[in-house]
Formats: sequence, C-alpha cells, structure tokens
Amino acid sequence: MVEEHDFSTFTLDDFGDGGHGSEPATATADAPPAVDPRMPGGAAIAVVDADQAVRDYLAQQLGEGVGAEPSLVELEQRFGMGPIVVVLGPSCATPTDFAMIERWSRTNPEVGSVLVTSELTTELLQTALRAGVKDVLSAPIDQMQLVDTVGRVADGLSGVPIAPTTGAPTSLDDLEAMEGEPGKVITVFSTKGGSGKSVTATNLACALARRSTRPVVLIDGHLQFGDVAVMLQLAPQHTVVDAVSQMDKIDAVLLKDLLTVHSDTGLLVLPAPLEPTFADQIGGDQMRALVEIIRSFAGHVIIDLPAIFNDVVLSLIEGSDEVVLVAGLDIPNIKNVKIGLSTLALLNVPKEKLHLVLNRADSRVKLDVGEVEKTLQIRAAAHVPSDVVVPISVNRGEPVVLSAAKSGVAQAFEQLALRFLDGAAEVQEKSSSRRRFFG
Ligand SMILES: Nc1ncnc2c1ncn2[C@@H]1O[C@H](COP(=O)(O)OP(=O)(O)OP(=O)(O)O)[C@@H](O)[C@H]1O
Ligand SMILES: [Mg+2]
Repeated sequence: MVEEHDFSTFTLDDFGDGGHGSEPATATADAPPAVDPRMPGGAAIAVVDADQAVRDYLAQQLGEGVGAEPSLVELEQRFGMGPIVVVLGPSCATPTDFAMIERWSRTNPEVGSVLVTSELTTELLQTALRAGVKDVLSAPIDQMQLVDTVGRVADGLSGVPIAPTTGAPTSLDDLEAMEGEPGKVITVFSTKGGSGKSVTATNLACALARRSTRPVVLIDGHLQFGDVAVMLQLAPQHTVVDAVSQMDKIDAVLLKDLLTVHSDTGLLVLPAPLEPTFADQIGGDQMRALVEIIRSFAGHVIIDLPAIFNDVVLSLIEGSDEVVLVAGLDIPNIKNVKIGLSTLALLNVPKEKLHLVLNRADSRVKLDVGEVEKTLQIRAAAHVPSDVVVPISVNRGEPVVLSAAKSGVAQAFEQLALRFLDGAAEVQEKSSSRRRFFG
C-alpha cells in the first residue's frame, strides 16, 4: 500500500537557487518530449509536475529538448514507445502516481524514473524505491547532480538491465537465482589511525570486484570520518544512515538501490554518513544486521573501520569471516598492533582469521620485516611498499589497482585479493563487458 505524503507546503523556493534561473525555461507543456542526444541509447527525458513553475524549472536544469507534462496520465497519452527517463516533481509523490510508476516499471524496462522531493523521509524513499523509482533527490537540487542522476538512469535503460552488469540483483527473482553461500565478510582494521586502512579497503574491494563473479560490496564503517566515497570519487545519494534507518522494513532488493556503483569496477559502495553526528545514531547490532542482508546477495563484503575499539567496530569484527589488520612499519604502530592482537585474542578472534598487511614496508624504513613478524608472531599476508602513487591515487580518487596497476603497491593488493577468492573462475579477471558498459 502506497502512503500519501503531504507536499502542500512545497514551493519553488525549496530548490537550490529558489528557481530563479537566469535563462527562461525551454520546455512547455505543449512541446512534445524530444530525444536528448546526450542520453545513452537515445533515451528521452520528460519532467512531470502539476505546478508549471516547478516543471519548467526542472526542465531548464536538464537542458534543451526536455519534455514537460502536468501529469503522468498526460505523459502516457503523449509519449509513444522508446526509452525515457521521467523526472517526477514533488506533486507526483501520491499513491496514484506511484501505482502508475510501479506498473510502468514492471511492464516496460525502457522507462526509468527519478523523484525530486522537497524533503526526503525514509517512508517516502522506501515507497518510491518499492514503486520502482530508480533514485530520489531532495532539495536543494544541484544541477550537476540532477543531470548525473538522469544520465545514470538512462544508462540502465534501452532494454539493458543493470543487474547482470553490476552483478547486483534488481528483483526478487534475481535474488533467488543468486541464492547460495552467504558472502565472505572482510573487515579492515588497525590499531593506529592513518596506517592505510582505507587505501587497503578500497584497493582490495576494487581488485575483488574485478575478479569476483558475484557482487562485491564495500561498506564505509568509519561512521564519523569515512573516506571511502572520496577515495573512489563517488557522489553518493545514500549512506549507511539511510540503510540503517530502514532496517526493520528493508530487504535485499531495496538495499541494493541504496548502493552506489563504482563505474570502473562494478563495485557497490555504501558510504559513511555525510555528517559525523549521525554516527551516534548507529549501533553495532544495526550494522551487523545490515551486513547480514548485504552478504545474502554479495560474494564479498569489505568493511573499512576506524582505529578504535567501540561497539560498532567490535560487533563488525566479531561478525566477520576475515580481519585484515593494517600496520605501518614503525615502532609505535608495531607496539599498537601487539596490543590490538591481544585484544582480538580476548574477543576470541582466531588467528586463522587474521591477515596482517605491513604498509609502507620497504628497506628505507630501517625496520626488518622478519623481525617485526617474529615480534608479532604472525606472518604478513602482504608487504605494501611506500610509494608516491598512493597519495596521487588518493587525490585523484582512483585506486592504485586501477591507476598504477604495474606498481608494487597494486601487485601487493592484487595478491591480497587472491587470498579471498575461491575457484579458478573467479581468479581470472572478468572480461570487461561491464566496465565497457559503465566506462
Ligand atoms: N603505501 C603507501 N605509500 C605512500 N603513502 C601511503 C601508503 N599507504 C597510505 N598512504 C598515505 O597515508 C594516508 C592515510 O591512509 P588511509 O587514509 O588509508 O589511512 P587510514 O588508516 O584509513 O586512516 P584513518 O585511521 O584516518 O581512517 C593516505 O592519504 C595515503 O596518502
Ligand atoms: Mg580510513
């Protein structure tokens, strides 16, 4: 049952610049929707809202040749067959319009929709996603964001479903078809900040996503100051907060819609909250429950953690199959790793689960790796050299395994990834139809 939302207070001023764009609107209710040459597959774009000022404003944001209709009924009458992205204004958030969108989504894979709202509530997000709306944007609306979102939705049209290319399921049928072993959960942890956890997590996740035959999901578990989205140059619409706040109502299909696709690798990403204060609202049990849903469809779930032992971190480490422990190669790091190892032992984390990554491990640091391994009584799973390619890649938002594939750093992360892959089929890097599709 679709819920009613009251948008009676919505005005044009709710949008970014108050709707006072410098150019006059190019689209009118009388203009038939035209094909926008920028859209993949020649998809048309149409804006629907009962308020002419709102639809003209949205159409103007999207550029010339965009159709505009006051209602979905009129759009349906006017528009023929062919791929189309429908931008739904706030007046479309009604049970009748959601029911219509749901019918279109079920019967026509060439129709994609994006909802624009003045205020995003979890109920509205859930209702919209359940009806088949591909994305929901809330005010203030950024023009680039709107254009990007519409482009991404157009990418998934033309009869080319996104699911097989990302490896992520889009329907319950897909999910049932993908049922199998729950995915492997890998937490990336360190006992000292800045030792290279996020660099390791993003590179490991990208390397796995390129090789795994099942979806690979990266969760930013550094809820206060997560860097994953920046390191992968993503502008996410949804974060861990959206997923956790809907825990009681959400299923795997809905959750998949909250993940952001990293287009170069097909990796699915759930970034950290945009505001550090949101971290306080999220508990360890909720994060564990979230991971359980994600692993039901993903082959690997990688979780980047902060360098602290709190409720969320302990719960996630306890619930993981493998723990990647990252340590810089200096005395304070090694001292802290020793303390960390004792803490993990107290938590009954077996040693077989631990994979030590010695970061910035090369001869110039004057610490002997063998000695360090002896002190810690654990063999390192990977020695990652110190290399300027790392800060360059971080600043460019392109992991080293993609931007400097031949470097020693990339090779070390690729080797690490191989530890977590079973089966020869997965080890071969996938032929890149999906990367071509997104690239
Ligand atoms: N092997 C390396 N060579 C050179 N620089 C590196 C290397 N590994 C990490 N760095 C640099 O160290 C910085 C910190 O790395 P990263 O953000 O991965 O640490 P972190 O453990 O996630 O930090 P935090 O505890 O704040 O989350 C990065 O910006 C990167 O430039
Ligand atoms: Mg980090």
